[in-house]
Amino acid sequence: MSACCQERTVDQGQLDQILQLYQGQPSALIEVLHQVQEIIGYLPREVQGKIAKALGVSRGEVYSVVSFYSHFTIKPKGKYQVCMCKGTACYVKGSPEILDRFEKELGIEAGDTTDDGKYSLEVVRCLGACGLGPVMTVNGNAHGLLKPEKALAVLKKYV
Ligand code: FES
Repeated sequence: MSACCQERTVDQGQLDQILQLYQGQPSALIEVLHQVQEIIGYLPREVQGKIAKALGVSRGEVYSVVSFYSHFTIKPKGKYQVCMCKGTACYVKGSPEILDRFEKELGIEAGDTTDDGKYSLEVVRCLGACGLGPVMTVNGNAHGLLKPEKALAVLKKYV
């Protein structure tokens, strides 16, 4: 299952451990950002500040790396994390149309979270269920053989 669909909570102890481990190592910035996002789910400004201080880099440097890589996000994930597969099998079976529909319906682009914090939308490359494509997961629950209308109906069950 894609990491984008796993529930995570902030763990201050784990965060401190990572920062201690990489204390004073500016070259570990990307690795630290990966690990911290893995445990918190996103990279809020105050956490970026802690990372900058621990590694001995500027806040600006941390922010520029976070904004450069689309993998990193500064927004918390929504209550419902929707992961739309755009792997080859799902792509040819119509996942781009479903994704377009979601973006219009939710008013966000892939990688973003709705303002009410309800949905976040991610694109993933193969969920391992290609025969059921197009496939999406909502909080880790898989839904397959989707068409735009069916996908929207599934989404509306998550209220
Ligand atoms: S390509 Fe979508 S599940 Fe494999």
